[in-house]
Amino acid sequence: MSTSHWDAVWNDRHPDKVTWFQAESTTSLQLIQAAAGPGAGVIDVGGGASRLIDQLLAAGYCDVTVLDIAAASIASAQQRLGSDSDRVKWIVADATAALFGRTFDIWHDRAAFHFLIDADDRARYLVTMKSALAIGGHVVMSTFGPDGPEMCSGLPVRRYGIELMSETLGDTFEPIGSKVEQHITPSGAMQQFVYGVFRRLS
Ligand SMILES: C[S@@+](CC[C@H](N)C(=O)[O-])C[C@H]1O[C@@H](n2cnc3c(N)ncnc32)[C@H](O)[C@@H]1O
Repeated sequence: MSTSHWDAVWNDRHPDKVTWFQAESTTSLQLIQAAAGPGAGVIDVGGGASRLIDQLLAAGYCDVTVLDIAAASIASAQQRLGSDSDRVKWIVADATAALFGRTFDIWHDRAAFHFLIDADDRARYLVTMKSALAIGGHVVMSTFGPDGPEMCSGLPVRRYGIELMSETLGDTFEPIGSKVEQHITPSGAMQQFVYGVFRRLS
């Protein structure tokens, strides 16, 4: 998974035409709101040009961060938000190696973690996540489900049911909720996503 791959994706495609596009990030927003109120520090990891950030700002969340490996995706989101982009902290970094110097209450990831098909990359991502998520904080994770696609954006993915997701995150993350959702792509295809919510115990 490389920066150049993702920059090319975001430079070559309209952000509303990528397969993972959602006009509204309804499930993510609901799960975040159920886990923590607007005072929470929220990071959207691999956020790309997702509109979740617009919805978080509209819902009153004032400590919001978007991290993505592709500068082009962040530029796209900033352009869409206009002056509201000043209310967001933007980080261009690889989630398997990022350093934050602070902690967050919510770590949200929709459709980035599932690209980590190499166990070492997953281990590095989890080290990053643990360095950045407060004890008692929540992970809201969304990946392709067991019946979802095997590839996305030309790359293979690892598909998760809630059990595998929980096992992958490890014992220090207590599973507290899950949801299966059928995502309809802009061209009308159906993709199964699994959402998991986990509370960090220690
Ligand atoms: C399928 S898109 C999902 C975007 C967004 N989360 C959404 O739901 O609309 C995957 C995103 O993860 C980003 N990404 C992929 N690998 C990454 C990594 N190692 N670190 C940070 N971002 C990554 C890509 O640039 C892309 O924006």
